[in-house]
Amino acid sequence: MQAVLINAKEMRMVYDDYKRSAEYLVRQLGGFEPQYLLILGSGLGGVANAIENPLRARYDAIPNMKLSTAPGHAGEFVAGTLAGKRVLAMRGRLHFYEGHSAEEVAFPVRLARLAGADSLVITNACGGVNTSYKPGQLIILSDIIKLAAPNPLTGPNIPEFGPRFNDMSYLFDAKYRELFKSIGAKRDIELREGVYFYTTGPQYETPAEIRAIRILGGDVVGMSTAPEVIAARHCGMRILGVSLVTNMAAGVLDKPLGEKEVLDEAEKARDVFTRLMLDFLESAS
Ligand code: HPA
Repeated sequence: MQAVLINAKEMRMVYDDYKRSAEYLVRQLGGFEPQYLLILGSGLGGVANAIENPLRARYDAIPNMKLSTAPGHAGEFVAGTLAGKRVLAMRGRLHFYEGHSAEEVAFPVRLARLAGADSLVITNACGGVNTSYKPGQLIILSDIIKLAAPNPLTGPNIPEFGPRFNDMSYLFDAKYRELFKSIGAKRDIELREGVYFYTTGPQYETPAEIRAIRILGGDVVGMSTAPEVIAARHCGMRILGVSLVTNMAAGVLDKPLGEKEVLDEAEKARDVFTRLMLDFLESAS
């Protein structure tokens, strides 16, 4: 096995790097201009299977794009029409714990923005910190907490995307949240809102960390989503975030956490989740 370079001084991309990559992606997709970027979490990639006449672009073909290595994460963009909207779906997302920088994790968001997308729908598997939640439940994100973890916006600001000091008061789009909730209600699925607490992973949290996260206001905990939504808000995208509680967080129940239950719960939720996403896209404006 070859040696890998870790903790090297990060190379920072400049606006032209993003533009070049976005132009490549659009060309690869035959000039397709997305409205929505869909980032689909662990095992939730099934939504992408419903895209009509899908166009595909592999991550490894796109300049500056890193590859996803996490279980349940394929590595391609799938583009096309879904419930009447032009979507660009990521089958497989990037995580900081894979060794990518926060900027690299958020890279596809900026790529999609330059390709034309003005909305981000982002989903993830998470642990339930709020003890009234149950595995299998979908939670609409109302906000995030990302305290000391690395940030995709550090380094020289790229003003073409957004301002140096960006406002985060309205991170998740109020209309999208309401719409998703009403769609759940129509299908008799109770959808509660919650705050996503970001940890970098890759290890699950300790029970003491989960108690601290609860005191700090986190309802769910996970190892994704924060870098992407920070970058998306910076470049002015509207955002819907939905978490699937795949397990109760460490220490809530007297049992260890495993990777298998995360993928098992995602598999069980797949059909309902796909249905809700299609309803959402159909009604969203
Ligand atoms: N913690 C962090 N990330 C997760 C969890 C968890 O308990 N479950 C699924 N993703």
